[in-house]
Amino acid sequence: MGLVDVSRLPQHVAIIMDGNGRWAQRRDKPRTAGHERGADAVRATMRAARRLGIPALTLYAFSEQNWDRPQAEINALVDLLCECLVSERNELVDNEIRLSAIGRLHKLPERAQSKLASLTSETQSFEGMTLTLALSYGGREELIDATRELARRARDGEIDPAQIDEAAMDALMPSMNVGPVDLLVRTGGEQRISNFILWGSAYAELYFTDELWPDFGANSLYSAIAAYQSRERRFGLVPDAEPLPANESADELERAI
Ligand code: IPE
Ligand code: IPE
Ligand code: MG
Repeated sequence: MGLVDVSRLPQHVAIIMDGNGRWAQRRDKPRTAGHERGADAVRATMRAARRLGIPALTLYAFSEQNWDRPQAEINALVDLLCECLVSERNELVDNEIRLSAIGRLHKLPERAQSKLASLTSETQSFEGMTLTLALSYGGREELIDATRELARRARDGEIDPAQIDEAAMDALMPSMNVGPVDLLVRTGGEQRISNFILWGSAYAELYFTDELWPDFGANSLYSAIAAYQSRERRFGLVPDAEPLPANESADELERAI
């Protein structure tokens, strides 16, 4: 933890939890064994983030595209989600962690939807940290849903298309409820976004690690944050203003250009 400066923490950390299948394959186990160990990594990461004081942690647990995986794997993932929503209840309550979920949640089986709804409602007033699970989530789908809603409002005369701006988009993007992503982590060695938060990651710092998700833990999170803190975020601006050369005013410089 010595590496991390707790006065400059990312406000929103989002993680693409990848590599469960390969973790299991390397041990001659079924892919589902990797997902089970992945749940332990979720707990460890959530605890570490909470202890550090990170306000928002978003975890990519199941993508919209993951529905095309073999049905047996999907069933195992849904079962695991349901188990975790029961087993982690006390952990969330004791640590005042607010649970939230983004994605096309209506596509989840009813048993998962109801457990999710009851734990999100039970924890909704907590302010320790917001843990958001991205389930049946896709960044493009989120943009499509927001665009559809804007088009409907324009058609019904509720808004003027000319009024559509960043704030209007933010308000329609559930992933923006906890603000833009500051640090986007992906485990498992691939260097891609795989349709995770797109709009809100516009200026995220990206951190890729070869570590497979089941091996991720507190120290891995600290390393990711230390890397984040070593970056200079410029948001399209120039680095800390350079002093003008001696004897030259801004006007003179402009003329020279
Ligand atoms: C991430 O691990 C978990 C989900 C996508 C649900 P994978 O299952 O993608 O594992 P790999 O990438 O095949 O190793
Ligand atoms: C991204 O991992 C989705 C999640 C971690 C939930 P994938 O394994 O589905 O992504 P690709 O197939 O490597 O792009
Ligand atoms: Mg994968």
